[in-house]
Amino acid sequence: MKMKNLMMAALAFVPSFLLHAQQVNITTPKTEMILMAPEGGDLKIVYYGTRLSEADARTLCEVEGGRQNAYPVYGKWPSGEAALAVKHADGNMTLQMAVTSVETKTETISGADDCRRAAEAYAAQGKKKNPNGIDAASPRVAATAKGSAQHTIITLKDKVYPFTLKIHYRAYDDVDVIETWTEMTHQEKGAVWLNQFASGYLPIHVGDVYLSSLYGSWGNEGRVACEKLVRGMKVIKNKDGVRNAHSAHSEVMISLDGYPQENVGRVIGAALCYSGNYKLRIDTNNSDYHHFIAGINEDNSSFALKKGETFTTPELALTYSEEGLSGTSRNFHRWARGYKIANGTTPRKVLLNSWEGVYFGINEPGMYGMIKDIADMGGELFVMDDGWFGVKYPRDHDRQGLGDWEVIKEKLPNGINGLIAEAKKRGIKFGIWIEPEMANTTSELYEQHPDWVVKAAGRDLTTGRGGTQVVLDLGNPAVQDFVFGIVDRLMTDHPDLDYIKWDANMEISDHGSQNLGKDEQSHLYIAYHRGFQNVCQRIRAKYPKLTIQACASGGGRANYGVMPYFDEFWTSDNTDALQRVYMQWGTSYFFPAVAMAAHISAAPNHQTYRRIPLKYRIDVAMAGRLGMELQPKHMQPEEVELCKRAVADYKRIREVVQMGDIYRLLSPYAGQGAASLMYVSPEKDRAVYYWWKLEQFIDSHYARVPMAGLDPKANYRITELNRIDPRPIQCEGRVFSGAFLMSNGLDLPTHNQAGHGDYDYGSRVILLEKVQ
Ligand code: DGJ
Repeated sequence: MKMKNLMMAALAFVPSFLLHAQQVNITTPKTEMILMAPEGGDLKIVYYGTRLSEADARTLCEVEGGRQNAYPVYGKWPSGEAALAVKHADGNMTLQMAVTSVETKTETISGADDCRRAAEAYAAQGKKKNPNGIDAASPRVAATAKGSAQHTIITLKDKVYPFTLKIHYRAYDDVDVIETWTEMTHQEKGAVWLNQFASGYLPIHVGDVYLSSLYGSWGNEGRVACEKLVRGMKVIKNKDGVRNAHSAHSEVMISLDGYPQENVGRVIGAALCYSGNYKLRIDTNNSDYHHFIAGINEDNSSFALKKGETFTTPELALTYSEEGLSGTSRNFHRWARGYKIANGTTPRKVLLNSWEGVYFGINEPGMYGMIKDIADMGGELFVMDDGWFGVKYPRDHDRQGLGDWEVIKEKLPNGINGLIAEAKKRGIKFGIWIEPEMANTTSELYEQHPDWVVKAAGRDLTTGRGGTQVVLDLGNPAVQDFVFGIVDRLMTDHPDLDYIKWDANMEISDHGSQNLGKDEQSHLYIAYHRGFQNVCQRIRAKYPKLTIQACASGGGRANYGVMPYFDEFWTSDNTDALQRVYMQWGTSYFFPAVAMAAHISAAPNHQTYRRIPLKYRIDVAMAGRLGMELQPKHMQPEEVELCKRAVADYKRIREVVQMGDIYRLLSPYAGQGAASLMYVSPEKDRAVYYWWKLEQFIDSHYARVPMAGLDPKANYRITELNRIDPRPIQCEGRVFSGAFLMSNGLDLPTHNQAGHGDYDYGSRVILLEKVQ
């Protein structure tokens, strides 16, 4: 953010007749938000879009002055949808907020900021050190600075009540994202009930405006829904309590120039950075605007704010691009890798996960075999999934053992250290699965701590997976310590552990906390996620480099409330390559490939029973963070060979896929029988192009797909990866200009080997390398 007028720094003292002095410009390299903040008056939003010249910005403010409140509050005119609604201690339901000050400061952002905040919060509670030994001043939490941002805080006070609202805007200096969130506090005589407490609001001018959002379910995460915004209220919400991205997502794109296109058109992107229940509302009423409001889902979650306490809402990240949906994705991806995903700029390892290979059938020879097999294929990490723990109630199936994180000696006589040593011998790393927020009623943990689970007083306990799964109440500090302790103990006992797959397979089914008082039961969901965040921050403060995957019955935790603490997410339990094309397409709207785990699995597929040729399964998985999810022992030698080559090829392109810019080219939703996208390195010297056939009929013909994102003046050499055909494609090794590739594209045969039997599932992966 830059204050275009230096007088803004002392806005609180600027006389209100100096209207031009009340202009607040919040800028990123290419975008800008303009607010008007007259002292004693309403905070108005004037503009959000491409960055303006100073002259245009000033004139716009003089002409318009801002028609919409920047953060509408409830109770007095105007009477539209509100971002904030409270009941004061005396029962009054209204708010009237007036600007009192504007301040701005430059912030240095580092990956450890959240962890440092946790350590500081812990210290502020009177405990000098975190239980993990990290204190606020520890150099171990002072990670290298990643970048900087301008942080503007606008303070508003109620005209009558001692109720204060701070609206925050963090504008990054190197990526086009502005985060906004709010803080409420008061000095009233009793509690003030927060009934609605959104993170942010944005008015979007009506026109030919479309909303793109993600929907789905278990096994079908990240599907794209696209609809024109019409009169009425569009609501996207979640109330799972634990996981929030299985069905709808808390990220949207709003296209301003008609039906959304991938690489042209103005698009606003919004992502609520929250791990819990959320609600996004778009109210299209009898005004010139679609009113977009996003925040924590307040349903059954009214919050009693005590005198002097501060309630902080999660960040709402906003971005804007004139390069279509893909341009908006690129903005999100750069921001995410730089600031919002743990270790977001560290390339990820190629791994084998044991789940679909052996399910609960864990044993030492089997694990050692898988370690060897993935090492032989060039992989870099082996992850042992569910089934390794539980002494009194061994985890041989999903009905028992959760909570008892002791290795089953009969299955693994040499324990976790034996597995780590075996992995080391093979030159790879070792990782492990846990589900620390959960218990089974058949577990020693539940026998000892029945009061730790989420349960409504006086009612039967609802159970989930296996008929015995229950959710631990993370709002309870004792549970937080326990959950932190699971990771801490694993890491203390096995410091070479490289990776944790953190699963979460149940929702909150009973609204009740055995930890909260009777007047605080509506805090359950919020307390859970504060607890979750606290645990994550403690883990990250102590183990910043540990790779942690957010799995939640698949993609249930793909959101930016979770990702600052997790390196990646398991995109879906559904590994069917055909359905993955659709799911990974939608997921890529908001999340970069570095975080999107995509595994090659067996045929027939274990979820859809579809038989898809290995080449296609590889080509789809190679568009994300490549891994394997099968039993290598069941593969044919030629399949092993193909995977070996794929792993080697993936290592050649990993940097481009995981750190590059995405250009989605042909949507699987476009009904053209194929889909295509590419990743381009920031220097535009390397790119990887993917093409996947989606349907096959006699006499099917497919569009040639022009590429995007290349340097038109550069020349690129063409190399096919994962080739299965005996003869190379005609353009193999040939050189074309970026201009040609972007205006024309390549004519790629679907496959030129008769009888390969994979005509249904043709696919190509093409590497483009700049030549001098
Ligand atoms: C659900 C996950 O999504 C799977 O990948 C696997 O880890 C199982 N849980 C294990 O129980």
